[in-house]
Amino acid sequence: MSGLFISFEGIDGVGKSTQADLLEKYLLGQGKTVVRTLEPGGTEVGVEIRKILLHHRGELAPRAEAALFAADRAHHVASKIRPALERGEIVITDRYFDSSVAYQGAGRELSMEEVRNLSLWAVGGLLPDLTVLLDLPADIARSRRNKTGTEPDRLESEKIEFFERARQAYLGLAENEPERFLVVDAATDVEKMQEIIRARVSGLI
Ligand code: TYD
Repeated sequence: MSGLFISFEGIDGVGKSTQADLLEKYLLGQGKTVVRTLEPGGTEVGVEIRKILLHHRGELAPRAEAALFAADRAHHVASKIRPALERGEIVITDRYFDSSVAYQGAGRELSMEEVRNLSLWAVGGLLPDLTVLLDLPADIARSRRNKTGTEPDRLESEKIEFFERARQAYLGLAENEPERFLVVDAATDVEKMQEIIRARVSGLI
């Protein structure tokens, strides 16, 4: 596959979409074709799955939750991400399968290994070329998220310990795959973070 696949990861409130937006702008300015997308909900089917995942009011068994994220991702990759990469385009996604490993694997305390395998099966083994992990302690990320003034969704309503487990899981994943991950301290100012990200991406385009 000839395109470039970049994912942004991190717990809620670290500023992923701001950095993904700025990177998209930069790459468009370089004359690149960019597909900017997100999970859950990067496709029409995904939008329906997203409604259940984020707004369903009753119980949702942890394994059902993991399976729904995997279903969203399977369709996302098959119908949008893989075709774009085959056309040689750059795909920037706000979240990908590391989110499931961190949130369902570590956050929900399902096995990280099993969730990773489920996700990898769903995407036919497609890994990003680069994963930008924005890192912040869970309490700081939460207070930033709360400042947005929007109502927390089903996952955002989880306890702080859930997010701390997810954060630690992300850091562990990055440690295991240093060639795929770029870890950025999300307490750094917005422009500086973007500079660090662009420097790494420039080496890939
Ligand atoms: P996101 O779109 O980042 O939320 P928002 O639009 O509110 O910024 O992600 C939705 C939530 O889903 C977020 O809390 C993280 C969670 N999530 C998982 O638990 N597992 C996953 O595999 C993915 C992709 C997201």
